[in-house]
Amino acid sequence: MRYFLAGFALLVVLVVSVAGFRGGLSRKPPIEIFPDMDRQAKVRPQTADGFFANGLGSRLPVAGTVARGAPFADTPLNTGREPGTTNYVAAMPVAVSAEMLARGQERYTIHCSPCHGGQGDAKGITTKFGMAVIGNLHDARIVQLADGELFNTITNGKNLMQGYGPNIDIADRWAIIAYVRALQLSRLATLDEVPAELRASLTK
Ligand code: HEC
Repeated sequence: MRYFLAGFALLVVLVVSVAGFRGGLSRKPPIEIFPDMDRQAKVRPQTADGFFANGLGSRLPVAGTVARGAPFADTPLNTGREPGTTNYVAAMPVAVSAEMLARGQERYTIHCSPCHGGQGDAKGITTKFGMAVIGNLHDARIVQLADGELFNTITNGKNLMQGYGPNIDIADRWAIIAYVRALQLSRLATLDEVPAELRASLTK
């Protein structure tokens, strides 16, 4: 017990002498117990830095950067709705091209086919793992939905489906919708809509 008390007193003296006088006035350099906390290799805000050719310490945001929380302009392209209203736009506000459809097919295959299946008939791989109620994109009700509502479903989700807005950028969402429409047309088109020279190959 005696040794413990002596040792404890010594420890107290040691701790107080090393740590206790931090902040005291002295002409001697302070003892730095964790020097890496006091001195860090870093660029302070608004200071010059020789590392980059233009000498700026703070980098400019990448072109096209949207600040977190900054509202998107209220346009049909961004929201799928008529500006100033909650009405969905009937037709997509972007022009459809062959490249866009190809992009939509690629993005659909990545983001949607695991659940909705390659053909959109809700026979994706997730049905084998217990996902039971998946929207069949060929349902008459879904075929009749406005393009803007599909945009909203992709962006924010619907019922059991989560939103994919954060994962899929706006142009790609419209491309996916164009592709979904192509999938729907593939089951609804009449023979008359097939170019004449291809009809024979279909009826064979
Ligand atoms: C993780 C699985 C999953 C993925 C991935 C997924 N969905 Fe869905 N989707 C669902 C489920 C489940 C429903 C049915 C939701 C309900 O009615 O409860 C649904 C419903 C829908 C509907 C019908 C909405 C309505 O009005 O009833 C549309 C349209 C749709 N999805 C489009 C898409 C598109 C486009 C993608 C790709 C960007 C996608 N989904 C990705 C699971 C998924």
